[in-house]
Amino acid sequence: PRSVTTLSLASQKRRGRKISMVTAYDFPSAMHVQRANIDIILVGDSCAMVELGYDTTQPMTLDQMIHHCQAVQRGVTASMNRSNDAKPKKPLLVGDMPFGTYEYNDLDIALKNAYRMVKEGGMDAVKLEGGSKHRAEAIKHVVDGGVAVMGHIGLTPQAISVIGGFRAQGRTAARAREMIDEALRLQDAGAFCVVLECVPGNVAKAVTDTLEIPTIGIGAGNGTSGQVLVYHDMLGMMSHPHHEEFMPRFCKSYAQVGHAITEGLDAFKKDVESGNFPSEEYSPYVMNDEEKKMFE
Ligand code: KIV
Ligand code: NA
Repeated sequence: PRSVTTLSLASQKRRGRKISMVTAYDFPSAMHVQRANIDIILVGDSCAMVELGYDTTQPMTLDQMIHHCQAVQRGVTASMNRSNDAKPKKPLLVGDMPFGTYEYNDLDIALKNAYRMVKEGGMDAVKLEGGSKHRAEAIKHVVDGGVAVMGHIGLTPQAISVIGGFRAQGRTAARAREMIDEALRLQDAGAFCVVLECVPGNVAKAVTDTLEIPTIGIGAGNGTSGQVLVYHDMLGMMSHPHHEEFMPRFCKSYAQVGHAITEGLDAFKKDVESGNFPSEEYSPYVMNDEEKKMFE
């Protein structure tokens, strides 16, 4: 297989080839994303919101995250095994370290939990939110321990209780300069890549031009080394002809999967109620005539 690695991603940035990243949380979504030859699959803690129905990402536990990582890892493997492609592409698998699993002064807690994401969850790398000096130390400790780390600055949803709401970051010159400092700090700590969430395009471009490692934007304009979107958002998973759908302003809708699901369910219900399903075609189990006679 052709594997996406931290090295191949660095070379993609150098050669000006944009990096694609999409989230996946389970077996089927992982198969879909692998089949589309997306470069990176992120098992994001957005899972808490789009899969589990929480209002924030904070409730996600490490055990829950690992459970989803395992399903994604199996989905990627199954998808590659079933592929007709002689050299199916193996995306880089990155898993979010959940809120409360890497922030402690005891950096070994972060490292131990990162090992669980790799050894139990099957991830190639982990993602940690934040750009403080303390966070950079945690990242350095995890990378020294042998686990590749993706950084994440700008809007960091796990910090919702501190920042007060999901809103854009780095909108003043002073905050923008701080963001460049944070990004450099993460690069120095050994991060192989940094996610920039909800920051002005000119700031994201300045960060990207300053760093050697690639940046991946979400709501960060077109000047980053790559783009990430949340599976459920971009595919219109929750779309419904008579329900309002929440959609972040920066997210483009690439499909209305929810509409297709609703149509399928409506058709099934009609078929059941009319007796059209199952027709003979879908009634495969039959008794031979002799047994039938004896049964009558
Ligand atoms: O959890 C997530 O989906 C993320 C991406 C939006 C970067 O962290
Ligand atoms: Na996340």
